[in-house]
Amino acid sequence: MNTQNETEKKPRPTRVFSGVQPTANIHLGNYLGAIKRFVSVQHEMESLFCVVDLHAITVPQDPKMLKAQTREVAAAYLAAGIDPKKSIIFVQSNVSAHAELAWVLNCVARMGWLERMTQFKDKAGENSERMSVGLFDYPVLMAADILAYKATHVPVGDDQKQHLELARDIAQRFNTDFKAKGFFPSPEPLIGGPASRVMNLQDGTKKMSKSDPADLSRINLTDDTDTIVRKFKKARTDQFPMPESVDELKSRPEVDNLVGIYAAMAETTKESVVAQFAGQGFGAFKPALADLAVEKLAPITEHMRRLMSDATEIDAILKVGAERANSIAQPILKQVKEIVGFFN
Ligand code: TRP
Repeated sequence: MNTQNETEKKPRPTRVFSGVQPTANIHLGNYLGAIKRFVSVQHEMESLFCVVDLHAITVPQDPKMLKAQTREVAAAYLAAGIDPKKSIIFVQSNVSAHAELAWVLNCVARMGWLERMTQFKDKAGENSERMSVGLFDYPVLMAADILAYKATHVPVGDDQKQHLELARDIAQRFNTDFKAKGFFPSPEPLIGGPASRVMNLQDGTKKMSKSDPADLSRINLTDDTDTIVRKFKKARTDQFPMPESVDELKSRPEVDNLVGIYAAMAETTKESVVAQFAGQGFGAFKPALADLAVEKLAPITEHMRRLMSDATEIDAILKVGAERANSIAQPILKQVKEIVGFFN
């Protein structure tokens, strides 16, 4: 019997896309929840890592700072170990396909879908009337980022899950509305690991955030060794000893967070960290955590500083990255325009 056709079935091509916003204070949450995972996934699939400056201006930004922070995120990518020969590192606004595709997808996405987005509701709070239209539309641009490359896998933090679901809905709706079956793939989130959600060091119920006024709440990737040690020492805990089981962490959010951070940096599981420190006091755990953080982060922050002291290298890498990204996105955008019926 001839089974050749079946055995020759081509595997579906895979491609990774992810992005980090160039807003102030890139921090440990960005590193453990995103960038560190980009570094490992680049060896498994073709990968694009973007500095999403179009997303950053959905809230007001100082133009000079925006440019500096864009380089800072690129520096973090490189210093963390993203290899620009292997992966494509670039700035979102340098590839016009993002904005162009976002417009088309704006006309595919439904108001009701966006109104359900919890991140907008959280960010806008009572002030939604005064927010930019861009902030409301943020998830559609994110879908465009991913679909402009027909990316299939998206490593993101836990909080981006809903945005990924929306990207999938938009992709499917485009495919059905325009009778373009299978044109856009359904991008899958890559979420996981012990630190997919790094919390505020002073309040374990809040995410570690770039915008928290309390600097003690986060570890910035630009913090020096002494600052890192001091911040972990001052991190909030409780009066009990280190837990005996992972189950116990459920009711101890601050401790859960520190255990997760330790596990991610040691490249192990929360279980093994709990086993290692069970019953000990924080007087033992916190210095161990600070030492580990310094050991892992110091080479990265030092490399970042070196890269940022002279922008030539970063700028050259970003230029090549934009060209490579553009050469993937342009043919896809051209097909989109064809499908939609734009005149050319
Ligand atoms: N919204 C993402 C975040 O805040 C950043 C982002 C923008 C992104 N576009 C993306 C992540 C596309 C993954 C894919 O973390």
